[in-house]
Amino acid sequence: MTTHTRRPPVTVIGLGPMGQAMARALMAGGHPVTVWNRTPSRADGLVADGATRADSPAAAVAASDLAILSLTDYQAMDDILGPVGPGLAGHTIVNLSSDTPERTRRAAAWAAGLGARFLTGGVMVPEPMVGTEAAYVYYSGPRSLVDQHAATLGLIGAPRYVGEDPGLAQLWYQAQLDVFLTALSGLLHATALAGSAGVTAAEFLPEALQTLADIPAMLAGEDTARNLDAGIHPGDLSTATMMGATADHIVGASEAAGIDVELPRAIRSNYGGAIADGHGRDSWTSLIEVIKAPAVPVGR
Ligand SMILES: NC(=O)c1ccc[n+]([C@@H]2O[C@H](COP(=O)([O-])OP(=O)(O)OC[C@H]3O[C@@H](n4cnc5c(N)ncnc54)[C@H](OP(=O)(O)O)[C@@H]3O)[C@@H](O)[C@H]2O)c1
Repeated sequence: MTTHTRRPPVTVIGLGPMGQAMARALMAGGHPVTVWNRTPSRADGLVADGATRADSPAAAVAASDLAILSLTDYQAMDDILGPVGPGLAGHTIVNLSSDTPERTRRAAAWAAGLGARFLTGGVMVPEPMVGTEAAYVYYSGPRSLVDQHAATLGLIGAPRYVGEDPGLAQLWYQAQLDVFLTALSGLLHATALAGSAGVTAAEFLPEALQTLADIPAMLAGEDTARNLDAGIHPGDLSTATMMGATADHIVGASEAAGIDVELPRAIRSNYGGAIADGHGRDSWTSLIEVIKAPAVPVGR
């Protein structure tokens, strides 16, 4: 028998795919859930399944000590919670929306000025994985708040606390999305390049995925993380010059194929900058030195 009667009420504001999945995970964990969304119809399914619909953002905040926000950006939070103002005092706001770290720092200061407790977060899995074992969420702000609400927040995904500075959760989130989006564009660019010669995506993508799958072993084998932290870039296995030549060939192949060349040009620019800075005999990891302090773009 499952008894969840002592779980505290939680409010979820913002019912896009993510907010709906969060509300469902919280309800499945036994929390009474109050919901509010700008477009009311998006709450209909949740209300049919037992959630309570608040008539206004102020009523939604008042319904629970803890309010979780899942919105397009932090401007949406301003639009929704700005008019609530003093009604936020004493409440805990957990904003799991995306924005720049600086924007989230300003929001934390604003909430503190109104007497609210505030956590920033970034959900690191797509909507279907919310509430599963694989889900995790970066949090920043007061550690005591994450600890206090760990059981509730854990229903969405495992909390990974990254620091007191409220900007850190979105910094980690954006850095991860940097990897994700760049990899996705790289896959599509490569597929288009192969496609320019009639190779189908069905033929090419499995090969490209094999290349992606080989990267973790390559990074571990070269002690990449340790060397990056130490600023050491030994070029004994491959050099920036060799890989920069390949980057140049990709630009040439893309130009000849008549496809977009912005992405390979950006990568060639990284290699050109490293070589111009004297890293030609170093490893490809030396590119981080020019990425950290970008020089005038090279090779454009
Ligand atoms: N979807 C994913 O797989 C995923 C994965 C990881 C992280 N995230 C992040 O999670 C957040 C929510 O994602 P989502 O996919 O659920 O997004 P979404 O479908 O775009 O939903 C956004 C929500 O924000 C509301 N909203 C936007 N602007 C508003 C405004 N000015 N005033 C009031 N409400 C406003 C929308 O209300 P309406 O319904 O009225 O338009 C909706 O409830 C985003 O920050 C996203 O980056 C999403």
